[in-house]
Amino acid sequence: MTTLTRREFAILPAVVLAAKATTVPAFAQPSTPLITRAIPASGEPLPAVGLGTAQVFDSANEGTRQKASAVVQALIGNGGKLIDTASTYGDAERVLGDTIAPAGLRNKLFIATKLESPDAAELKRSLSRLRTEKLDLLQLHNVRDPQQSLSAFKEWKAQGVCRYIGITSTFHGAFSAVETVLTREKPDFVQIDYSIEDREAEKRILPLAGDNKSGVLTALPFGRGRLFRAVRGKTLPDWASAFAGSWAQFFLKYLLGDPRVTAVIPGTADPAHMTDNLGAMRGPLPDADERRRMVQFIEAL
Ligand SMILES: NC(=O)c1ccc[n+]([C@@H]2O[C@H](COP(=O)([O-])OP(=O)(O)OC[C@H]3O[C@@H](n4cnc5c(N)ncnc54)[C@H](OP(=O)(O)O)[C@@H]3O)[C@@H](O)[C@H]2O)c1
Repeated sequence: MTTLTRREFAILPAVVLAAKATTVPAFAQPSTPLITRAIPASGEPLPAVGLGTAQVFDSANEGTRQKASAVVQALIGNGGKLIDTASTYGDAERVLGDTIAPAGLRNKLFIATKLESPDAAELKRSLSRLRTEKLDLLQLHNVRDPQQSLSAFKEWKAQGVCRYIGITSTFHGAFSAVETVLTREKPDFVQIDYSIEDREAEKRILPLAGDNKSGVLTALPFGRGRLFRAVRGKTLPDWASAFAGSWAQFFLKYLLGDPRVTAVIPGTADPAHMTDNLGAMRGPLPDADERRRMVQFIEAL
């Protein structure tokens, strides 16, 4: 468990309330070890469950700031580090910067953002909104053209503006461009949509990521919430209770059961959901047979 400073402790009630709202199974107690994955380019361990911020922090108002603060506290308090955002997620970068900087939390986080193009002005704006001098991961958003180059991103990395660079896509029609750019540019990370109901990346992108030593972040791990709607009113099957205490953990552990996945980044504005999701970062993972059974279960719904 991460040690909190006195200042961080003062804003802890949101985390405690979030934890109380969720039943924590024995395997997910804070005393059990965290699941981390080594970033292939460096070997640096990264906690395997992070936070996605598309749509949830779009508006920079007081309500959003309070939610962001509670969610970030839940993330850190439960051993998480990774936050994924983008220059185009409304005011999300600004909301995060205003949450993280005053609380002195920057060095407890691994911040990933995305640019639409290799544009220095866009980069400067993201750094300013996030209130940080350095990013952990800078990604080129929605790669769609096989000619797209990461040379500016590589230059910024060499200058120390970011520690890692990456590419992203959630459009299957762009997967062949992603494959080409991934193979040619060998980014440190590729972020791709991958969930138990959308496994195209398993065949096409994950093997290439392995060949190129690129870490994998899975966008849309709940299919934008579609998976929860599919299991509404259904209880978890008994055989899954050995590794999952909730549907969220079932969906996330399916992904983490694939050793090529570096981290999952479910989106949420709810600290109780954040705590629930972080429960997937502890205890056993499903093996290959169990993963097949999980897919059969979801496909039979
Ligand atoms: N092209 C790209 O690079 C790209 C594209 C899309 C997404 N992404 C990244 O991937 C991240 C994840 O995608 P997403 O946020 O769109 O979709 P998602 O993670 O698949 O699903 C988010 C939905 O799940 C709900 N949820 C989260 N945790 C829950 C829990 N424990 N129990 C019940 N409901 C829960 C959220 O609602 P609550 O707020 O109520 O929890 C929200 O409605 C994004 O935030 C973004 O960082 C990248």
